[in-house]
Order: sequence, then C-alpha cells, then structure tokens
Amino acid sequence: MSTDRPARASQGARKDEHVDLARAQHKHGAARNDYDDVRFVHHALAGIDRDRVDLATTFGGIAWDVPLFINGMTGGSARTGEINRQLAVAARETGVAIASGSMSIALREPDVADTFRVLRAENPDGFVMANLSADATGDQALRAIDLVRADALQIHLNSVQETVMPEGSRHFSAWPDRIAEIVGRVDVPVIVKEVGFGLSRTTLEQVLELGVSIADVSGAGGTDFARIENARRAQDDYAFMAGWGQSAVCCLLDAADGQTPALLASGGVRTPLDVMRALALGARAVGVSGTFLNALLEGGVELLVARIRAWIEQLGQLHAVLGATGPAALGGTDLLLGGSVREFCELRGIDAAGFSRRSERPDKEATR
Ligand code: FNR
Repeated sequence: MSTDRPARASQGARKDEHVDLARAQHKHGAARNDYDDVRFVHHALAGIDRDRVDLATTFGGIAWDVPLFINGMTGGSARTGEINRQLAVAARETGVAIASGSMSIALREPDVADTFRVLRAENPDGFVMANLSADATGDQALRAIDLVRADALQIHLNSVQETVMPEGSRHFSAWPDRIAEIVGRVDVPVIVKEVGFGLSRTTLEQVLELGVSIADVSGAGGTDFARIENARRAQDDYAFMAGWGQSAVCCLLDAADGQTPALLASGGVRTPLDVMRALALGARAVGVSGTFLNALLEGGVELLVARIRAWIEQLGQLHAVLGATGPAALGGTDLLLGGSVREFCELRGIDAAGFSRRSERPDKEATR
C-alpha cells in the first residue's frame, strides 16, 4: 500500500483532471489500434441504394434510431456540468442516446446534482443512461435513475482504474452481489460496462448469470484510464499498466457465438468506419467518449453536432456500399482479421479465417 497517497482529492477536482488528461490522450488524433486490423473485403457489385438502409437497432428491450451513442463521461464539478450540458444538447440535436458519468458523487454531495440533472433538462425526450459503479446499492441505483429520469442504467466495472487511482478503492469482491441486487431492484434495463479495459467472454458469461441482459465491452485502444490515473500520482509509478486489457474488437470476437448479454461496443472508436467494424463484429450499437469529448473541447457544441450528423450520414452510406440494409445485416459481411487481432484469435481458438467468407453462408444474418 502506498505511503505517499495524497489526502483524498476533491472528487470534483478529479473529474476536471480526467477531462484534461483524456483530452491530452486524444489531442494528437487517432492512434493506431485493433480496429486497423479489421478490414472489409470489398465486393464491387454488392452495393444497394442508400434509401434502403435503416440504421435502427434493437437489443435487450431498447430501440434506437441509430446504432451510435455518447458514452458515459462526466459531471460533478462546475466545469464538467457545463460539458454535460453541451453533450446533452448534442444528443438532443442529433437524436443519439447519451450516458452520464459516474453519479455517485451526486448521491453524496447534493450540491452537484444539477451537473447531472442537466443531461435530462437539456434533452427531455432523449434516451439518457444513468451511471454508477458496481459498489452501488439498489437504493443508490434507484436514486441515480430518478435524478436524470434515466431510460437505462450503466454499471461500470473499473478495477484497473481504481487500482492505479491514488485514492481508488481496493475492494472488488462485493461487485457480483451488488450487480445482482441492482438488477433485482430497478425497472430499467441494466448495462454493465468496462471503462476501457474490455470484458472477456468469461466476464460476459458471469454478468449474464447475474441477470444482466446488455453489456458494453468498452475495450482498450482509446482512452486509457491506467495512464490517466497514473498521471495523477506523485509516486508509486504505474506507467507499466498502460495498454492493459483487450480491445473491443477482441472482446467481440471472444464473445462470438457464446452465451452473453446483447453486446454494445466502445473504446477506441475514431471514425464511422470503426463503428461499422464493431457492428460487423456483432455490436448492436457503438459508444464514443474520447473522440467526441475532443471534438467538443476543440470546436464547441456546433462542431460536435456537425461531427455526429456527418457520422450518421456516413454510416448510412457505408451500409449501402457494403450491401447491408441495416446494422444486423452487417453480420453477413466478409472481414479480414490481421495483426494482433489474428494472433488473439489463434490463441483463443477463434476461427479468424471464417470471418473472411461469411457472405458465402446461406444463414448469414441468423448467425449473429
Ligand atoms: C470516461 N469513462 C467513464 N465511464 C464510466 O462508466 N463512468 C465514468 O464516470 C467515466 N468517466 C469518464 C471520463 C472521461 C473524461 C472519459 C474520456 C471517459 C469511460 C468511457 O465511458 C469509455 O468506457 C472509455 O473512455 C473508452 O471509450 P473511448 O474514450 O476510447 O471512446
């Protein structure tokens, strides 16, 4: 245990630091990640008319018009409350779903509750997700849902982040029981998510057994909370933890054909092509945090709205090029898996080559 652990940092200050450190990671554009090892086989006569494409997606009792969402980030300080306000405006203007950052601070400090309420105030008819850690009780989950009149609840699993966080928790064993308790108490869909280190097939099977019907694998390759929390340490360097975990690509491959909740993907999404790759690997919708936060801080809410609108339009056009009438039909596209993704498949016993010939299967959509 560290002897130089700082006095418990103000939680609001920590939220501000997360924003600045996450932005620093994304500022210099998109780094290479596992999405680059997933390529579509191009079939030049496969294209269909754009107006035949419907981007709507359904999973675990949820229906969205587009398979894209602004993933959980922030709230808890004056500055992050303003960021939440702008993210909520962007969600309202583009029609995408939005998740809150962790709301435990609002349950402890009612003064900052408005920095979360703004997500609903600015977006009264949108799809809003509350967010808590797996330490939360059923009562706390009900209060968080009530605070933003949430349509769903995200529960984040973040043992690596807590470990590198100077003031983080070192107690993780109660999480499965807490998740089961929350699932039993709330009447909105529960989505278990990581915060950028990925959910393995084993974890996905466990959360399904706990009664969870939706999971966001939130993998590595984008925002790296091991690096973010390490930057907040004075000593006891955890720099060696940078890059820990599995990418969303690997998580989706790991889960393929398994007994898992309906899957969402996030972590390292840089472009609409990455969204298409995740959908083609079985994600029902794709969440973006760092890339959208960077656009917001770079060019304000106008740039973020324009960016999300462009992504939605481009998603439609890419579906048309690939001959897919909607996200579910992307399960019949041919994918070339290379590099470290192919290595992951080999080591986990996954038939990587089979993904390159999916369009030859008679039941191509049914196998997703
Ligand atoms: C996050 N993320 C996050 N997740 C969560 O469940 N609760 C939270 O409070 C936060 N806080 C947070 C702050 C900031 C500034 C960022 C950028 C992200 C994690 C987020 O939802 C996502 O899982 C990861 O960031 C990986 O996605 P990207 O950033 O690579 O698209």
